[in-house]
Amino acid sequence: MIGTAPNGFRASITGIGSYVPDRVLTNAELSTMVDTSDEWIIERTGIRERRIAAPEQALSDLCRPAIEQALAQAGVEPASIDLLIVATVTPDMSFPSTGAILADELGMPDAGAYDLSAGCTGFMYALVQAYGMMAAGLSQRALVAGGDVLSKIMDWTDRTTCVLFGDGAGAVVLDRVDRGGFLGFELGADGSGGPQLYMPAGGSRMPATAETVAERKHFAQMNGREVFKFATRVLVSSALAILEKCGRSIDDVDVYIPHQANVRIIDHAVGKLGISTDKVVVNVDRFGNTSSGSIPLALAEADASGRLREGDIVLMTGMGAGLTWGSALMEWSSK
Ligand code: COA
Repeated sequence: MIGTAPNGFRASITGIGSYVPDRVLTNAELSTMVDTSDEWIIERTGIRERRIAAPEQALSDLCRPAIEQALAQAGVEPASIDLLIVATVTPDMSFPSTGAILADELGMPDAGAYDLSAGCTGFMYALVQAYGMMAAGLSQRALVAGGDVLSKIMDWTDRTTCVLFGDGAGAVVLDRVDRGGFLGFELGADGSGGPQLYMPAGGSRMPATAETVAERKHFAQMNGREVFKFATRVLVSSALAILEKCGRSIDDVDVYIPHQANVRIIDHAVGKLGISTDKVVVNVDRFGNTSSGSIPLALAEADASGRLREGDIVLMTGMGAGLTWGSALMEWSSK
């Protein structure tokens, strides 16, 4: 799917928030848990540390402070939100949705609220949905949260996955604006690559049994090399597709926010796209891959450090389980 903003309709991000748990897990500590080393993890991924949720913290506990911050920054009341989408693969539970739980806790009685699953691309998918509902006149003001508590579905004995991921959440308020805003979106999915990154058990295909637990099938499993090839390819192709659709070039981009999976994947995309590194937002070294939390966390950091100025062209691209990918191009505008 690819498209540009409908004529005359302008919506943008008017508030951003983020939250990460306090607990820091360093590479040094990880190397006491599995057969790995600080050197290996930094060389192959660029990750130095990640945040880990407390045992009692669920996804909604991470999203709540991020959403409150986004609402405060936008200067709007929770009750004015009529659509809440939570992008995640680690909801509090299969049902009810974390969206419904949060809408109740935060005081959004008029909001349609639900969860959306698109792996690490979840936040991009949710942005497109919220924007589309606003453009169709169905929603007046939307809130999109993206977050994951991947530590709860990690196999902490599997060094090929557990060193890569972390916990975190971010949230944005989407509102109508007078100028700028989203210019276009691209989304894609290739389900044939699903088995490259998945959690085998716990769904209707393989319900939970004593065997599935014993066989560690309730943990994320990944073919790292195949996902690496996929990620390097789609980060570039998706960005180029949306730039072309919007009649822009990579030189027009002021701020580039790629999914924070791995510094090597980001470096590859940066090289292929030919964008200068000072325009690229990178925080994977401190948070690891936070899945649906990745792009909004990076966006929140870029905003807090004054890197997002009115009129800037901002490019975001995510990719992940599904396999899925998605890009958004926007002219930064909060009014
Ligand atoms: N510490 C030390 N050694 C490790 C290790 C770890 N944490 N994980 C794997 N290894 C070993 C492997 O067992 C292998 O050993 P062998 O050669 O004796 O068999 C060796 O390191 C190389 O493994 P390989 O898988 O080829 O490494 P790689 O260069 O492909 O890097 C990843 C592995 C996972 C870092 C890389 O494939 C990757 O980043 N993939 C994408 C993952 C991702 O981003 N997923 C989420 C997308 S949303």
